[in-house]
Amino acid sequence: MSDASKPDGFRIRGFCIKDYDRIMELWAEGGLPRKPSGRDSRENIVRQIKMPNVLFLVAEEGEGGRIVGTVLATHDGRKGWINRLAVDAALRERGLGARLVREAESWLESQGMDILACLIEDDNAVSMTVFEKLGYKKHPEIIYFAKRKHPGI
Ligand SMILES: CC(C)(COP(=O)(O)OP(=O)(O)OC[C@H]1O[C@@H](n2cnc3c(N)ncnc32)[C@H](O)[C@@H]1OP(=O)(O)O)[C@@H](O)C(=O)NCCC(=O)NCCS
Repeated sequence: MSDASKPDGFRIRGFCIKDYDRIMELWAEGGLPRKPSGRDSRENIVRQIKMPNVLFLVAEEGEGGRIVGTVLATHDGRKGWINRLAVDAALRERGLGARLVREAESWLESQGMDILACLIEDDNAVSMTVFEKLGYKKHPEIIYFAKRKHPGI
């Protein structure tokens, strides 16, 4: 994994639960849909990061510095998924988002995943541009269906 000696000064490391409040802020600022009493609750995040098919990374400004980026990589044994990509609004368009995706990708590839995928809201043009630049192909022929146990999940 990357370290603080990288020229841009950002260090990428695994998420710790003490990061929870700050990542909620980052996700809110980034307009990511959040379910704080469902899958994004503190206890659910703690449960998720213990799973062997989950890698949750954060970027910090220098060692121990403020958290300025996140990415959550997961896989289901068939495909790797890039979730929760977010970069502090003041630090965007400097390559940090791409770096977080590359870190997530290299872990997913190490887990044997040859297909990498992400879900993007249809009004998030910036995210679509970013993923296209990173080599992802849009599949408008696929429509996402979900079944939820309850609305807040
Ligand atoms: C998506 C996001 C994480 C990208 O982070 P970032 O650090 O700005 O991305 P990068 O600087 O690494 O950019 C990667 C590429 O996308 C391009 N790009 C980034 N933002 C862009 C924008 N607003 N318009 C056009 N191109 C853009 C960059 O120029 C770069 O292209 P290059 O490889 O040709 O240089 C950031 O915009 C963000 O946090 N958005 C809010 C949260 C969000 O929508 N997350 C995605 C959910 S699916």
